[in-house]
Amino acid sequence: MIQRLTLRQPDDWHLHLRDGAMLRAVLPETARHFGRAIIMPNLVPPVVTTGDAAAYRDRILAARPDGSTFTPLMTLYLTEDTDPADVRAGAESGLITAVKLYPAGATTNSASGVRDFDKVTAVLETMAEIGLPLCVHGEVTDPAVDIFDREAVFIDTVLDPLRRRIPGLRVVMEHITTADGIAYVQAQPNGQMGGTITTHHLIIDRNHILVGGIKPHYYCLPVAKRATHRDALIAAAISGDPHFFLGTDSAPHTDANKESACGCAGCFTATNTLSCLAEVFDRHGALDRLEGFASRHGPAFYGLPVNAGTVTLEKGDPVAYPPRIDSGDGPVTVFDPGFPLRWRVIDPA
Ligand code: DOR
Ligand code: ZN
Repeated sequence: MIQRLTLRQPDDWHLHLRDGAMLRAVLPETARHFGRAIIMPNLVPPVVTTGDAAAYRDRILAARPDGSTFTPLMTLYLTEDTDPADVRAGAESGLITAVKLYPAGATTNSASGVRDFDKVTAVLETMAEIGLPLCVHGEVTDPAVDIFDREAVFIDTVLDPLRRRIPGLRVVMEHITTADGIAYVQAQPNGQMGGTITTHHLIIDRNHILVGGIKPHYYCLPVAKRATHRDALIAAAISGDPHFFLGTDSAPHTDANKESACGCAGCFTATNTLSCLAEVFDRHGALDRLEGFASRHGPAFYGLPVNAGTVTLEKGDPVAYPPRIDSGDGPVTVFDPGFPLRWRVIDPA
């Protein structure tokens, strides 16, 4: 019996496309299957103003494969100097879909992020007033806090106090990696608070990174936690709870930059994400919930229509994805889930 699954075309609510040669190499990998994506602004230099975002959007549109209708949803990188009037104008013009908060020093290219939250209060109040979501990288950067605890500490010491101070602010806790993050988001009113979950965090735990030799291609931020946390992420993703939606955080770095004495954080999952997700949902008897997670809950949170098109997957012999793609800057390794991927996307092929 042939097993097929047709879903509304999915979106990626957290994606790194980079710029230049890397942008041209990785964009087709996402545009092949996804209708839209929230584009992360952590370029060098970051996408800080509406003008920066307009120019970046033009570069993304120019890099689309012929005939692609992929829509980039642009974000601004919140700094202590962000002008509330610029954010308002960007949102009202329809160009800006969200603002991204990186605590300074938390991850790749986050040096211009926020140190003193008092300095961004006016921007956040404006966002609350106009309903513009804040996408949050939820980790504290205090060197005294263990890296495996940084998400849980962030919730208690930064996220919850911030949301209490600005109650109308709509927040997405991005790339949740802990049971603590899941529980926090679940307990908030739907529509006020959402959470994205990546493909790789549904598959790996910290053993994948550290057991049997260090595996730099599994290193990302927030770092994968112990298996019980991974299992809490799976339970949330397959639950049908509309708080949770797909944000792959597909984050390409060249192999030279990953396989290094100081390797960059990021898993590149754009190429095989749908096959990986179908495998995870299938294993848990939850294929009927995949459409909610990948295609419906995100648009509902962002107040956007569900995509008109569909994608169809078929289960069969394992799919042979390329182990790496060429980027012009050097090869980029495609995420290896560590198990065969039997679901292939047959339409669009
Ligand atoms: O693993 C990650 N890679 N986490 C992030 O937060 C940033 C991203 C990147 O830009 O490489
Ligand atoms: Zn990211």
